[in-house]
Amino acid sequence: MNSTKNDVQASNETSRRNLLSWLSSVALFGSALVSVVSNLVFIKPRATYGPPTRFAIGKPEEFPSGARISLEARRVCVVREGNKVAAIATTCTHLGCIVGLSETGFACPCHGSRFDQDGVVTGGPAPKPLPWYKISLAPNGDLEVDTALEVKSGTYLNI
Ligand code: FES
Repeated sequence: MNSTKNDVQASNETSRRNLLSWLSSVALFGSALVSVVSNLVFIKPRATYGPPTRFAIGKPEEFPSGARISLEARRVCVVREGNKVAAIATTCTHLGCIVGLSETGFACPCHGSRFDQDGVVTGGPAPKPLPWYKISLAPNGDLEVDTALEVKSGTYLNI
């Protein structure tokens, strides 16, 4: 009778030991899995790249003398005068709307800022003139604008 009770007690202890062993194995495996996944997430670069600031806008022949062509998707206006070409931003310096071309220069549809042909503020809430961007001729003959590089107002590229 006493040996049967001892056998049951030993059996209970064995099953409890097996359960604890199994639980600790699951916990160990789980923590190893979390460690591997977090390391993989850490290794993967999280950098996001915006649109390029330097882009081609076409050949100089596409901009005839006297042209003021607004490239809305690029937020830039290409100005050609004779053999000179320039790029003026069309992002309003007030709150960032795209300014449109007007008879006197540029006009913002959002809050009514006005700019002259060179982007100088002539009215409205805009605090600064429209910036001019560096424009250059690529080796393949395309004009390139770099919106990361502002130049002094009135700076043209001779082509
Ligand atoms: S965003 Fe152009 S005037 Fe306000």
